[in-house]
Amino acid sequence: MPTGGLGFPRLHLRRTDSTNQRAQELAGSGAPHGTLVTAGEQTSGRGRQGRTWTAPHGRALLLSLVLRDPSPLLPLAAGAAVAEAVDGRSGSKSAWIKWPNDVLIDGGKVAGILVEGRPQEGWAVLGIGLNVAVRAEDLPPELRDSAATLGLEPASIEPMLDAVIAALTRWLEAGDGEILAAVRVRDALLDQPVRWRGMEGVGAGIDGDGRLIVALPGGGRTTLEAGEVHLGGGGQASEE
Ligand code: BTN
Repeated sequence: MPTGGLGFPRLHLRRTDSTNQRAQELAGSGAPHGTLVTAGEQTSGRGRQGRTWTAPHGRALLLSLVLRDPSPLLPLAAGAAVAEAVDGRSGSKSAWIKWPNDVLIDGGKVAGILVEGRPQEGWAVLGIGLNVAVRAEDLPPELRDSAATLGLEPASIEPMLDAVIAALTRWLEAGDGEILAAVRVRDALLDQPVRWRGMEGVGAGIDGDGRLIVALPGGGRTTLEAGEVHLGGGGQASEE
C-alpha cells in the first residue's frame, strides 16, 4: 500500500461528530492517501461492532487517516503501531494487544482502533482513539474499570500524534510475517478465556491470515474473523 506522507494534508476540528465520518467523506471526494483528520472532541465517536466511543474534550488523541489500497492486515498493523507508540510513552509498562487491535496497558484499554472503508473503491479510513491525558473522573463510571490512560498532560497529545504517525509509517510498510510476529508477542488473549456469541474457549494464538485461534473446551480449535465477533470484555466503547 502507498505510505508516503501520512498526516498530510491535515484537518483539525475543535469538535465534530466523528473523525472517521469526516475522513470517509474526504476519501469519497478524492482526498489523497495519508489525509489526516483530528479533533478535540467527538459528539458521536464510533467504536467497533456498532458501539460508541467516549472521550473527554481535549484529553484524548482522536484521529482518522485516509488510506488508499490498504493491506488486509491493516487492522493488525495499526494495533502493532499504536502499541509501539504507547510503549514509548508509558514508562516501564508494556502495551499488549487484545485481538484484533485493542491496545492495553495494565489490563485496561488505552486505545481503540476502527477501520472502515470501501474496499471496492480501494480506500479505508483508519480511526484511532488513544487516552493520552484522560483522568479516571473524566470517564463514565461503567468504563473506569476497563479503560486505561497514559496519564500525561494535554500538551502531550501532539507529540503522541507524531509518535503514532511515525510508527504507522513503518508498520504500514511492513511485511505480513513481521506484522503477525509483532502482534503475537503482544497477544493479550494467549491462554486466556475467550467468549463470543455465547461460546467459549481459550486463546491459542493468531493464524497466518490474522484470525484468532481458539482452543475449544471439548478439544479441537476454531478461528475467529475480526469482523464477525464481539468478544466479551470491556473497553471504552460502550453499547449503543
Ligand atoms: C473500538 O475500540 O471500539 C474502536 C474505537 C475507535 C475510536 C476512534 S476515535 C477517532 C475515530 N473516530 C471515530 O468515530 N472512531 C475512531
